[in-house]
Amino acid sequence: MIHPIVKYGDKVLETPAQPVTQFDEELAKLAEDMFESMYAAHGVGLAAPQIGRSLRLAVIDVTSGMNPEARLVLANPEIIHSEGEQREEEGCLSLPGFHAAVLRPKFVTVRAQNLRGEWFEMRGEGLLARAFCHEIDHLNGVLFIQHLSLLKRDLIRRRVRKLQKRGEW
Ligand code: NI
Repeated sequence: MIHPIVKYGDKVLETPAQPVTQFDEELAKLAEDMFESMYAAHGVGLAAPQIGRSLRLAVIDVTSGMNPEARLVLANPEIIHSEGEQREEEGCLSLPGFHAAVLRPKFVTVRAQNLRGEWFEMRGEGLLARAFCHEIDHLNGVLFIQHLSLLKRDLIRRRVRKLQKRGEW
């Protein structure tokens, strides 16, 4: 089932999400819905708060559905190691139309649980490292614009407010 993506301005996006404790059918269904919603929105990552569920669950597919083996489910993920730097354009399905260069580590190792509750570690480079950081930020109630200068962030805020007033957000 495809869920609408929650947009910037909704409190759920700026609230730290609750840990996943039940690794059951319902969680598997939620992850499946998140993949469907992410592909429908042409994203490479989606966190549960973006469909209104304040849960520490994220899905990532940096191949946008081209390679089924690239589908990643991260429950209760945390970054255990990062190194290097990369500065690339970043966007977010919850801030459609806005992009900005964000500094992120080049390599990131995460520790997370799969849908059976088993812990695993995974190292990502480049776009995958960026996706790990971006999605884990979401689970902590942080959006990419919080990594920008105050000036750039305020500019985006003002433009969103204008769109909200016109009913276009
Ligand atoms: Ni995002």
